[in-house]
Amino acid sequence: MTVISTQYASGIVAATEKAAIASSKLIGLGDEKAADQVAVDAMRTALNAIDFDGRIVIGEGERDEAPMLYIGEEVGTGKNHEVDIALDPLEGTTITAKGMPNSLSVVAAAQKGGLLYAPDTYMNKIAVGGSLPKDVIDLDAAVEDNIKSIAEAKKVKISEVTACVLERPRHDDIIESLRAIGSKIVLIPDGDVAGVIMTTQEHNPVDIYLGIGGAPEGVLAAAALQCIGGQMQTRLVINNDDEKNRAEKIGIKDLEKKYNLNELAHGDIIFSATGVTEGTMVRGVRSDSSHYITHSLVLRTGEAASQYIETYHKKD
Ligand code: FBP
Repeated sequence: MTVISTQYASGIVAATEKAAIASSKLIGLGDEKAADQVAVDAMRTALNAIDFDGRIVIGEGERDEAPMLYIGEEVGTGKNHEVDIALDPLEGTTITAKGMPNSLSVVAAAQKGGLLYAPDTYMNKIAVGGSLPKDVIDLDAAVEDNIKSIAEAKKVKISEVTACVLERPRHDDIIESLRAIGSKIVLIPDGDVAGVIMTTQEHNPVDIYLGIGGAPEGVLAAAALQCIGGQMQTRLVINNDDEKNRAEKIGIKDLEKKYNLNELAHGDIIFSATGVTEGTMVRGVRSDSSHYITHSLVLRTGEAASQYIETYHKKD
């Protein structure tokens, strides 16, 4: 069944396009909150125009802390299918505010129950692209072992394997292990949804994504990987009682559980990511005298092809 990924595709893509255009007007202004807020407003309006019975499972936060696009919020006109939505109207608020590359507006939509209800905590992640032997990576294995395993599977030297890691002090040991073994590292300042997707793209020199980032971004990346092919394992990182309560509140029973790709996202899925600032994956929003021009990567389960959509939006 490909009902969700076909019937609602144009509406989902419009939602990331509209959010990207809105936040692009605030690129480089140093105001993360405002850049996020305009993306949220634009995405919410666009989602509410879709004739579906949408419910947000990964959103801007829990109801008491996020006034809009909160977890559990219903979106759409209420007609037709029940659809679960994971979203990040602006993935990379800091990089947008600083005018740096690779911020995105992202939505994944799936049939009800197709996306993990993850709390707004951290998540440990490991991911690789498609066409590799099953279980080539293991979240619990040493960094060196995962790199050796990929090098063997890809029939390349360890020095030819590239890992993508978020540049954070918490990843110093991962970075040290990668340096010690002699593999390459792409350090990103933010934006691990793109970091995971890059493992699937031959034109991007990334073989593996490693490290701790947001749990919501983990589910979004898994939705993309489920469409395009790849492997991913994750585990929530719960740091205190508040996070434990939040996880339990949304139904997570085993806080130590290791999730595989199918447990993070499965079934009929559409994923759309529109560039906000210029990016290696998609271009940022540009404009001419009468249009905003957006570039989106659109992925769907059941279709091998990735689509890159360039849209000219008339300026009002
Ligand atoms: P924002 O869009 O909220 O700025 O998140 C960007 C991001 O880099 C994610 O891609 C990543 O998962 C997370 O932040 C990492 O969190 P932290 O910045 O706290 O290390």
